[in-house]
Amino acid sequence: MKKSKRVKKSNSWRVKQQRDQFFKKSKTLGYRSRASFKLIELNKKFKFINNNTNLLDIGSYPGGWSQVATQIINKGRIMAIDIKNMDPIKNVKFLRGDILKDSTEDKIMNYFNAKLDVIISDMAADTTGNKSLDSIRTNQLCLEVITLAKNILKPKGVLVSKLFMGEDFIEVKNLAKSLFRQVNFFKPESSRKESKETYLHCEFLKSL
Ligand SMILES: C[S@@+](CC[C@H](N)C(=O)[O-])C[C@H]1O[C@@H](n2cnc3c(N)ncnc32)[C@H](O)[C@@H]1O
Repeated sequence: MKKSKRVKKSNSWRVKQQRDQFFKKSKTLGYRSRASFKLIELNKKFKFINNNTNLLDIGSYPGGWSQVATQIINKGRIMAIDIKNMDPIKNVKFLRGDILKDSTEDKIMNYFNAKLDVIISDMAADTTGNKSLDSIRTNQLCLEVITLAKNILKPKGVLVSKLFMGEDFIEVKNLAKSLFRQVNFFKPESSRKESKETYLHCEFLKSL
């Protein structure tokens, strides 16, 4: 076997092993998705969820991130939103709906009755088979979440959102930097190495 093929094969073996590790671990710990580990890593790095955080989880189905949030939050409120139906999680108010609809923002504000501490979004557009198009559509969702955050986050609030390192990455970065004083990017270990997925962490809204 040629060396490059051997390297590719051993890399793909390692990637599969890593994927299985997180999959198995999520089953053992009772998480609904391996995505839970990404939020655990993000919170370990940036420390934005505490026991009295009021938190909105956007694109929550099947519920791995909401499960992690409930393990930390016991005084704050948690609302989860998805266009897909999500099985109930104790202490999580689930709203089935599209975050892109104006009426959804009203429903969020009615539930919290105040601006929020944290918004987490792991939203991803449905895959089409065209990776570049998928990346553009998911980054479009990320832009929408950044704009929503400007309206509903407290001045010292935190936004964490999935995005892809595609050609429109710079557009996402520029919008985030125009609205927040601190903007960071972080790829958790539990995010597949071969995926262009990464996470945006923003805090301290600028007073415009
Ligand atoms: C990668 S999954 C989220 C996994 C979740 N964080 C977990 O830990 O289990 C992405 C979700 O985004 C949702 N989504 C995509 N577009 C949406 C929209 N416009 N409004 C609400 N949810 C959306 C999808 O239905 C999908 O369930």
